Amino acid sequence: MKLSPSILSASIGFFRTTGLLDGPDVVEDNRRLEDLSGVFEDESARQCMDPTLEVYSTRSVFPVADGKSGGLFFGCTTIHPGRVGDEFFMTKGHFHANVDTGEFYWGIRGEGILLMMGEDRRVRAEQIQPGSLHYIPGCTAHRVVNSGDTVLTFGACWPSDAGHDYGRIRREGFAVRVKHGRTGPVLVEV
Ligand code: NI
Repeated sequence: MKLSPSILSASIGFFRTTGLLDGPDVVEDNRRLEDLSGVFEDESARQCMDPTLEVYSTRSVFPVADGKSGGLFFGCTTIHPGRVGDEFFMTKGHFHANVDTGEFYWGIRGEGILLMMGEDRRVRAEQIQPGSLHYIPGCTAHRVVNSGDTVLTFGACWPSDAGHDYGRIRREGFAVRVKHGRTGPVLVEV
């Protein structure tokens, strides 16, 4: 197929099957233990660990301005294996600032648990594994836990006007925590 060069432009990025997202406009961010004060139940255990240890990182593309309606954002999050006390490494978790907006997540590598909590604090959990697809409805807080012993990477696609409300989870927490039990991960109501 011949294409006129005038209509050809570079793709927004390269999404690898390994979960790595590359491209000129990819924005990378990470969260270290020192950034996660109050996130894990055992705060004294967190303070005894290396504060510079990376818990998770994100690589995202934002093709339109943050907050603009009608656009989509795309990102990959990698959570390292590990625990604070007996609680697995996880994301901070958030409601969307524009609270009734939804989001897709999908598993790329590793295994984990997606916690979804409604405004009534009822929690649902779905297992994330390579190829699994997860729809997070509006008005639902979401957090991902790496419950395995390898790196967990998942993809995400969300509306450009969704925004993030981390404060509500920081204040109120999730109603369920995922901990290491004798026979595997266990969901513990708090
Ligand atoms: Ni979200």
